[in-house]
Amino acid sequence: MITVFLGPPGSGKGTQAQLLMQAKGWPQLSTGDMFRANIKEGTKLGLEAKSYMDKGDLVPDSVVIGMIKERIANQDCNSGFILDGFPRTLPQAEALDLELKGLGKQVDKVILFEISSDALVKRLGGRRSCENCGAVFHLEAAPPKNPDTCDKCGHLPLVLRKDDQPEVIENRLKVYDELTSPLVGYFEAQGKMLRLDAAQSPSEVTEKVLGAY
Ligand code: AP5
Repeated sequence: MITVFLGPPGSGKGTQAQLLMQAKGWPQLSTGDMFRANIKEGTKLGLEAKSYMDKGDLVPDSVVIGMIKERIANQDCNSGFILDGFPRTLPQAEALDLELKGLGKQVDKVILFEISSDALVKRLGGRRSCENCGAVFHLEAAPPKNPDTCDKCGHLPLVLRKDDQPEVIENRLKVYDELTSPLVGYFEAQGKMLRLDAAQSPSEVTEKVLGAY
C-alpha cells in the first residue's frame, strides 16, 4: 500500500504519518525529515537544502526526486510506504508515477489534509520540535510532559523550527498554493483522493486516517 499525504505546511501530515506507521508498519518517508537529517550531519545535500528551506522555498525537483528514488528502493518499502511531503510539484508527481510504474507499483491512496490558513499559522507558531530525534510537539495541542523537554529522548530544549518563523510561514503557504495545490487536481483525476478535515482534533483525524484502510 503506497499512500501520499498531501496538504499545506502544518496541516498535521507528519503527526498522522507517525501514527499510521505505528499502526500498519509502513515506513514514513518524510522528505523534510530527510533534509533535516542531512543538515544535522553537515552533508553537501544538507547544505544545499538548507539554503532553500530557511527561506521557505522548495528544494529543486532534481535533488528531491533523486533522494526519494533511492529511498523507495530500500527493502523496508517492499510492502508499502507513506510519502509525507512528497510529491510537492507536478514534475515530482510525474516522476514518482513513472518510477513506481517501472517497479510494477503505483500510488494507491492520496489523503488530502484540508485546513484554513489562519489555523495553520497558529499550529506552526506553536510547534516545538526536538532537534535530536525529530519528535514534534505543540504548546497547546500536544505539549511535552515536562516543559521544553522531549518526551521521546529527553533532549532539551525543544525549538521553534527556523522555517516556523512568521515571515517564512507566509512564504511556505504561498509556495504551497502556487506549486503544490495543483497536485489536488492531478490526483483527483486519478480517482485516488480522499479529502480529510484536518482542523479536527488529532484523535479525530487519526480515526479518519485509519478508517481509510
Ligand atoms: P516539511 O518538513 O515537509 O514541512 P511541511 O510539509 O511544510 O510540513 P510540516 O512539517 O511543517 O507540517 P505537517 O503537516 O507535517 O504538520 P505537523 O504534523 O508537524 O518540509 C520542510 C521544507 O523542506 C520545505 O519547506 C522545503 O524547503 C523542503 N522540502 C521538503 N519536501 C520537499 C519536496 N518534496 N520538494 C521540495 N522541497 C521539499 O503538525 C504541525 C503542528 O500542529 C505540530 O505542532 C502538531 O503537534 C500540531 N498538530 C498536528 N495535528 C493537530 C491537530 N489535529 N490539532 C491541533 N494541532 C495539531
